[in-house]
Amino acid sequence: MMSEEIDWDGLTFSLTPTDTMYLTETSSTEPWMPGTLRPYGPIEMSPASGVLNYGQGLFEGMKAFRTSKNRVVFFRPEENARRMQRGADRLKMPPVPESIFIDAVEQCVQANLRWVPPTGKGAMYVRPLLMGSGPILGVAPAPSYTFLVYVTPVGPYFKGGVSAIDLLISEEYHRAAPGGSGGVKAIGNYAPGMMPSRKAKDAGFAEVIYLDAETHTYIEEVGAANFFCVKDNVLYTPELTGTILPGITRQSIMELARHHGYEVIETKVSAEFAMAADEAFCCGTAAVISPIGSITKGEKKATYGDQKPGPITEQLYNHLVGIQNETEEDLFGWLHEIPQ
Ligand code: PLP
Ligand code: COI
Repeated sequence: MMSEEIDWDGLTFSLTPTDTMYLTETSSTEPWMPGTLRPYGPIEMSPASGVLNYGQGLFEGMKAFRTSKNRVVFFRPEENARRMQRGADRLKMPPVPESIFIDAVEQCVQANLRWVPPTGKGAMYVRPLLMGSGPILGVAPAPSYTFLVYVTPVGPYFKGGVSAIDLLISEEYHRAAPGGSGGVKAIGNYAPGMMPSRKAKDAGFAEVIYLDAETHTYIEEVGAANFFCVKDNVLYTPELTGTILPGITRQSIMELARHHGYEVIETKVSAEFAMAADEAFCCGTAAVISPIGSITKGEKKATYGDQKPGPITEQLYNHLVGIQNETEEDLFGWLHEIPQ
């Protein structure tokens, strides 16, 4: 497909193959070196690779935006680089230096500029992957590693764009347990969520909400997005306990909300408390800020705001998206320009 043929208004969160990807490799004993650009396409890998056999892999998700000032910018890319380094430590992989990570994602966007959607029509989703690509039979770190980056233009993550979503609390399945890998973007965290998510979708919900695995009481996350609720003008979000992914959008929303004078509390958020809140939303790079229209737990259903985003949700959404599009001032220095 040519980028000229893309229906920018019809973009969804799905893969459109682009021209070019970035790749670099290292052994577990050598330092990372800058990689090279190559045509987007299949890569060769040992059948005995660490990633294929034992899931030794991480991913990141970030976006490049074409702004109203006709610049192309990343949103806080250093945070993605650092999160991938923490994940690499947890999965016993050699961390990619921040300078190589930033250079890789920049080069990959630059090489695919024609696929960056027009302002307000979506974004270029950037997917860095780090994996044990060398062969290993015993359960142990792979002898060599691949860091690659590919990009694809995307639209809204949830069907229906920014309209409010209906969520189901999972009473049977959990995403992460204490001491596990829930706090990093390990690839292995995601497949176990597919069956619960599919079941929820078949029952008419957009996604599941996971509770903590120990007490089945406190909200952790919404599939692949973080959770917030608003009660009496105070924002609440589950505290990071190691089982929740520390979202960059979550952190940014806390900073934005405090800037607007709202109190933000990171704490244990029980399902019961959330279901009595005034507003609720989930957030992430892919999800942006998605207002929650209802939460169902067993026989109980809580609804918020008559399917419309609540006022504080809307205010934060407009401000966050405004910063990303450069229609609002970049108050916190979150944007990172990609030279075109
Ligand atoms: N939670 C999970 C499990 C995720 O995969 C993501 C996506 O990255 C998020 C939350 C949101 O994080 P971020 O805002 O950094 O995209
Ligand atoms: C993201 O928000 O970037 C995610 O990782 C969500 C999902 C596509 C895994």
